[in-house]
Amino acid sequence: MKNYDVIIIGSGAAGLLCAATAGQRGRSVWLIDHAKKIGEKIRISGGGRCNFTNIHCGPNNFISQNKHFCKSALKQYTQFDFIDMVQRHKIKYHEKKLGQLFCDESAQQIIDMLLAECKAGGVTPQMETSVEKITKLENGRYSVQTNRGNATCESLVIATGGLSIPKIGASKFGYDVARQFGLKVIDPRAALVPLTFSGELLDRCKSLSGISVEASVSAADKTKFAEGLLFTHRGLSSPSILQISSYWREGEAIRVNLAEGVQALEILKGKKQSNPKQDILTVASEILPRRLAEDICAHLSISGNMADQSDKKLQALADAINARQVKPAGTEGYRTAEVTLGGVDTNAISSKTMECNDHKGLYFIGEVLDVTGHLGGFNFQWAWSSGTVAGRNV
Ligand code: FDA
Repeated sequence: MKNYDVIIIGSGAAGLLCAATAGQRGRSVWLIDHAKKIGEKIRISGGGRCNFTNIHCGPNNFISQNKHFCKSALKQYTQFDFIDMVQRHKIKYHEKKLGQLFCDESAQQIIDMLLAECKAGGVTPQMETSVEKITKLENGRYSVQTNRGNATCESLVIATGGLSIPKIGASKFGYDVARQFGLKVIDPRAALVPLTFSGELLDRCKSLSGISVEASVSAADKTKFAEGLLFTHRGLSSPSILQISSYWREGEAIRVNLAEGVQALEILKGKKQSNPKQDILTVASEILPRRLAEDICAHLSISGNMADQSDKKLQALADAINARQVKPAGTEGYRTAEVTLGGVDTNAISSKTMECNDHKGLYFIGEVLDVTGHLGGFNFQWAWSSGTVAGRNV
């Protein structure tokens, strides 16, 4: 039986930075993970370039039942602290848009940087290590039984992430540990995920698949995101849809504006006056991609010259462009979701240290907690901030 100061289960984004931070403080750390390859989610993130943080990161970019919880960690270890580390490791990066920072070359550089930081703290991650049992001992230490032997520790950190992308190692392990220690788990659900449709809407999405527009999408609670929208073989995707998926609930409609910033009714009425002989499809195609304009006009049975269009028809076309309500059938689920909404209830955790209020020495960090970022580098920043804060306290 080995004895460590700290055992960290899960060597993803949060676990790696937590291990490096604790190791560099002189703590003995056993960092374990059941997956074969390290940092897979980092490697596939941001299309292989890892959107590692966002320069505008703040508490408003996060969803949680306890919306103040993320504030302390985000303040203790900010996006600028992480950017400093990236710069120290001479990793070149750029802002793609909206404050989103990506590696110029490869996400692997972020993994290599974290491994170098772990090495500087004397930590070597041990992969293909599965935990069989966790026990709290009478002396307050934790015992961890694994397929590679057993060990005890003073501080046990759960960094096993959420449920998205099970094929690269996601598991409900963290939620099970939380329940074992009497903590509540807020129902997890797939988030930052494409929305699916059924029936006629699905047929239309399929036929429009590949077309993208600058849109804005709102949920029932009026949360709105203005970004790209893409038609797919299953429904809708791209940033505006991924963002709204975190706010959408089954049975609700979303409101889609297919031409953000364009007042379609004004344009249509203006054209009827200024160019009455122009074909309405030509006018609609100046606002939307032609195939999309054709689809909408066909479904509204609108055709002919502008002069022939009643105000009612122009209004119907403008509504279909600027204010279409559609009811998604569901989401693509954890297979493609970038994150998991919900998770370990943060009311049981100290926001300053990530330690459980009722179990000294037990910590939860990263996505396993009920803290979910918007799209744009915020989820990694939460992993870095919560991981570092725990690493300073374990
Ligand atoms: P993470 O999932 O990184 O790590 C958890 C680790 O625990 C894994 O290594 C897993 O194998 C291990 N584990 C799980 N169960 C275990 C068990 N039972 N025993 C042992 N180990 C176990 N975010 C962002 O900010 N910018 C981006 O560009 C992207 N891009 C992106 C793309 C895709 C395709 C996905 C799926 C996700 C993103 N994200 C993202 C989200 C981001 O990847 C995610 O929020 C963080 O990786 C969460 O970090 P954690 O360390 O909490 O979990």
